[in-house]
Amino acid sequence: MRAATKTLIERLDGLMPQTALVLGSGLGKLAEQVTGAIHIPYGDLEGFPAGGVSGHAGEVVAGHIGHAQVILLSGRVHYYEHGNAAAMRLPIECLADIGVKQLILTNSAGSLREDMPPGSVMLITDHINWSGMNPLIGEESDRRFVGMTSAYDAGMMELARKAARAEDVELREGVYMWFSGPSFETPAEIRMARQLGGDAVGMSTVPEVILARFAGLDVAAFSVVTNYGAGMTGAELSHEETKEMAPKGGERLGRVIAAMLQENPS
Ligand code: HPA
Repeated sequence: MRAATKTLIERLDGLMPQTALVLGSGLGKLAEQVTGAIHIPYGDLEGFPAGGVSGHAGEVVAGHIGHAQVILLSGRVHYYEHGNAAAMRLPIECLADIGVKQLILTNSAGSLREDMPPGSVMLITDHINWSGMNPLIGEESDRRFVGMTSAYDAGMMELARKAARAEDVELREGVYMWFSGPSFETPAEIRMARQLGGDAVGMSTVPEVILARFAGLDVAAFSVVTNYGAGMTGAELSHEETKEMAPKGGERLGRVIAAMLQENPS
């Protein structure tokens, strides 16, 4: 058994969550909804990524949201940090090891649609991998040929829609386009992304979706829109703006996720 899996099982002390969450930039507050929280710094888990981007804590938080058991990865490593698209592979595989069946991913993103303003919450229904990278490059088994036709689980999407209605949260839906970052897109790239069928752009999540499908987990993912894509307004983009805006949509996304979990408690 992987050392990190063993440590996780010990520290979870009998908790056996079937749902895991990855919290994106500025969305760390979702962890505050967890009751009876157990905090495990990534540094205590061998092979978990150390260090992160500002706005990312880097710890596992486990406990309950309502009556559902959950485990949260608060803080992710992005491809743009070290050029490793597989940086989240070990944490995701550890989740599968401990019995997690479904993964809910969150991120902040730029909107590609004039009618989807900052503050919107978007259910990701599909993605475009524009980075040219893939976290399974180098994997040798034939399991690397992961099907992506139903990468975003239909049942979880339905639960999300139902939860949003119950919480009176407007839930947008769309295609998330992964750019490597860390520089933001140019206005020309944003025009291209719009033409290619993207609804939101961001620098994360897609490698984790691929890794989660590889690990056999069902996936749902959400974006909180923090800004319009470059050039859609006159504004310059900044990481500060992302961090500032994310909690605004994050509160509503937190309610949707909490309601979703109550429908499908583990
Ligand atoms: N582009 C890429 N990633 C992002 C953006 C954006 O406009 N906003 C938040 N994350």
